[in-house]
This record gives sequence, C-alpha cells and structure tokens, in this order.
Amino acid sequence: MAPGTPRTATRIVGPGLQGKLEAEAFSGLRDLILRAGGIDLDLYKEKCVLRRITVRQRACGAPSLRAYLKLVSSDPAERSRLVKALTIHVSQFFRNPSTFRAIQEEILPSILTRKQRGGGRALRLWSVGCAHGEEPYSLAILLLETGAQALQDYSSSIYATDIDPTSLQHAKEARYPEASLVQVPARWRQRYFLPDRDRYVVVPEVRRLVFFKGHNILDPLPFGRIDLLVCRNVLIYMTEVLQERVLLALSEALNPGGFLVLGKVEGLAGAARDCFEPVDVAERIYRKPELRSTRAA
Ligand SMILES: C[S@@+](CC[C@H](N)C(=O)[O-])C[C@H]1O[C@@H](n2cnc3c(N)ncnc32)[C@H](O)[C@@H]1O
Repeated sequence: MAPGTPRTATRIVGPGLQGKLEAEAFSGLRDLILRAGGIDLDLYKEKCVLRRITVRQRACGAPSLRAYLKLVSSDPAERSRLVKALTIHVSQFFRNPSTFRAIQEEILPSILTRKQRGGGRALRLWSVGCAHGEEPYSLAILLLETGAQALQDYSSSIYATDIDPTSLQHAKEARYPEASLVQVPARWRQRYFLPDRDRYVVVPEVRRLVFFKGHNILDPLPFGRIDLLVCRNVLIYMTEVLQERVLLALSEALNPGGFLVLGKVEGLAGAARDCFEPVDVAERIYRKPELRSTRAA
C-alpha cells in the first residue's frame, strides 16, 4: 500500500488464524488496541503482532482469540497489559556501546565543529522511542563529557518521546536497576548516578538536559531543526511502507547535515534511501545531506 492510500475496513486474515470467527476476533482486537493505545496494527508486521497477542491470550488462559477479545473488552487492566506487550520497552544505558562510541568520537565533534563555523547556537538532540529514558540520558552524559565549554556555548536540549505514558513516567523518575547500567563505565557510574538502596538514580545535572514528551511517531512531528536524531529499535516492528513514511518525516525534522542513528538491525527503507547518506553503516548512522541535489523535471 502506498503511503497516504486510504485503507479499507477489511483485513487480510493472517497465517495461523483459523476460521472466520478468529479472524473477526483479530479484527476486533485491532480496533480495540487502536482506541486504547493509539497503535494501528495494520501498519505493523502481522507475524510480530499475532505472536504477542497469542502470548497474552495464553497468559490469560483464554482458549481462543474470540474468548480473549471478550476478556480484553471488559478488563481495562488486561487491555493495558496487551498494549504494553505490543510496544516493547527494553533498553539499557549505552545499549550497543560501539554506537555510542561513534556518537561520542565522531558525531558530536562533527556537529560541534559545524556549529562553530556558524551553524547556530542551539544544539538539539531527539531520542524517538526513548522507553524508560536510558537512551536520552546516555546522550546527555555524552554531551556533558564533551566538556563544559560546549554546554556553555550552546543552548542544549535533548528531546525524548515515546508512545507509552507508563514508560515516560519511569523515565522521568530516572531510577534504574543495576542491570540497566552494565554498559556504563565505572567512572561515569560514579559521576552520573547516585545509589539509592537497590537502584541507581540519574543525577540532576544529566536530568535537566532531557525533556520528555508523549508522542506517537506516526503523528505530525513536534520538533524540527534537530542535529542528532536517534530512533533505535522502534522501526523494527513496522512494515516497510510505514518505516519509509516515518523515515521521510524524520528527515524533515533534521537540520541539513544532521545525523540519524537507527538500531543495529534497522536500515533505510524505500524513498528514504535518497534522503540520507551513509556515515557509518555498521553503526547505522546516516546523515541528511547539506544541500539537496535538484533533479531536472
Ligand atoms: C525496544 S524500545 C527501544 C528503546 C531505545 N530506543 C533503545 O533502542 O534502547 C521501543 C520503544 O519504542 C516505543 N514505540 C513503539 N512504537 C512507537 C510509536 N509509534 N511512536 C513512539 N514510540 C513508539 C515503545 O513504546 C518502546 O518504548
């Protein structure tokens, strides 16, 4: 389906869905999830969606999708568990450390050099699908590590968005179990975290750089003029058509010369391949060209 093409109400019945009643139940669940969580399952990979719904169905002991739909319709707690199961929130500080090393050693210095040459006084980073905040706080630590001068010279903001309000609540609290910090070097752990019983709390110096906001990446974008946009492990659950749509929108949010970082198993899709140039393919780092080439009509 091309982007922007209106969808019909009928749904293709997925593999593994036996019979008309189960297909109708799937359709009912799809509508319910759209209303409850703002997630349009038509746009996500059907196999992933079915697998996760089936896990919840089994966890509730429902013998069929039809029975599970009935349960979800009358039980708000299960409804929110299902929405949660469909949006995975796994993350870690400095998840995929080599990517953060590239951001620290190549990307941030390149952005700062460009700013020094007259690229403006605002430094704007955005973590899309920030889960519990580990990713944007990791970016904030890297910014602080670039040195006080950089932070004094520029007005720095890290925007962090997610579709899931519970995740954002965790993110604002900024309290993490030790397992979230396994990739944090010891000296940064000491400098940027305060131990509090069995948790580690992010210090205010880091927290004040990050601004959290509820946002579905399929909706109109709330920010623009971004220098570094990190969207990792969010596209992975979307169909290629939807990935293309999101990537085209993200390119609009970036400053010319701005960087895009995707997850390790993600990549550019469709026409979005023409909107970015590769910087470090292994780390899935791309750049929006400084000057768009104009094509002859
Ligand atoms: C697997 S986590 C990735 C966290 C972090 N980016 C990382 O790579 O470690 C995916 C996050 O994307 C969020 N998400 C999924 N679909 C989304 C959408 N349409 N708009 C915004 N966030 C979304 C989920 O709620 C979840 O917190």
